[in-house]
Amino acid sequence: MTNVLITGATAGIGAEFARQVAARGDDVVLVARNVERLEEFGRELTDRYRIRAEILAADLTNRDDLARVEERLSDPMRPIDILFNNAGFGHTESFVGGDIDVEQELLDVLVTAVLRLTHAALPGMVVRGRGGVVNNSSVASFIAGGTYSAAKAWVRVFSESLHGPMAAKGVTVMALCPGYTHTEFHDRAGINKSAVQDWMWLDAPLVVSEALKDFSRGKAVSIPGAQYKALATAATYLPRPLVRRIGLASQK
Ligand SMILES: NC(=O)c1ccc[n+]([C@@H]2O[C@H](COP(=O)([O-])OP(=O)(O)OC[C@H]3O[C@@H](n4cnc5c(N)ncnc54)[C@H](OP(=O)(O)O)[C@@H]3O)[C@@H](O)[C@H]2O)c1
Repeated sequence: MTNVLITGATAGIGAEFARQVAARGDDVVLVARNVERLEEFGRELTDRYRIRAEILAADLTNRDDLARVEERLSDPMRPIDILFNNAGFGHTESFVGGDIDVEQELLDVLVTAVLRLTHAALPGMVVRGRGGVVNNSSVASFIAGGTYSAAKAWVRVFSESLHGPMAAKGVTVMALCPGYTHTEFHDRAGINKSAVQDWMWLDAPLVVSEALKDFSRGKAVSIPGAQYKALATAATYLPRPLVRRIGLASQK
């Protein structure tokens, strides 16, 4: 029996991840802030897939809430086999003159929660010699596109750094790097979706199925979609001044 804990499980990529692992028979622990949505989604998964769905309401910007998720992850009596650090949000604030509290919340959810939850989950996985962590980064991690992109670069490098040492223990740590994906993310962030060209859009089912396939193969980085594999490769090998120009354009 596999147990999967997913943060940001009520919408978008996290909800689709929950659906796909539940469809193969895994039990899930669903983490997000909105309790009603958590309960409704938990019922939907239980009814449709006959699995156990546990609800863990937590705001990952809140250290007490975060500590409860850490405790759940490190409980040896109820082991978590796969952790999907997925919760996240974006914003359109400019850095100078923007709201520093929003920037702090971004770091809390995108970086601190990923750091602490991975730290809580890995020791048990190492003892058991199996399982792993998927950290949701972004293709934005390859460019210089503001504080969101900087936080996502931290997530990718952090995951890549753990990949080798953990693989030697039978545990997989993988960074997932999606491009633009149809979810609630852009409306919540106030991003103008009509400015994004059609070829750039991915659907969450494809992002998650590619991520699960890459995770089962023990990959360090998963980049769903041929267009984003090409863009990430280009961003890796292009001269850095050009990558910075692309980053500037992405913030307009
Ligand atoms: N969509 C894209 O184009 C795209 C591309 C690359 C990477 N990503 C990354 O993919 C991840 C998932 O994003 P998505 O597109 O699926 O977004 P989404 O549809 O907006 O879903 C975000 C999820 O995170 C939860 N969440 C947000 N803030 C939280 C907090 N403080 N504490 C706990 N849970 C919180 C939300 O639930 P509550 O509001 O109830 O808490 C929701 O379940 C993010 O890390 C994002 O950066 C997205």
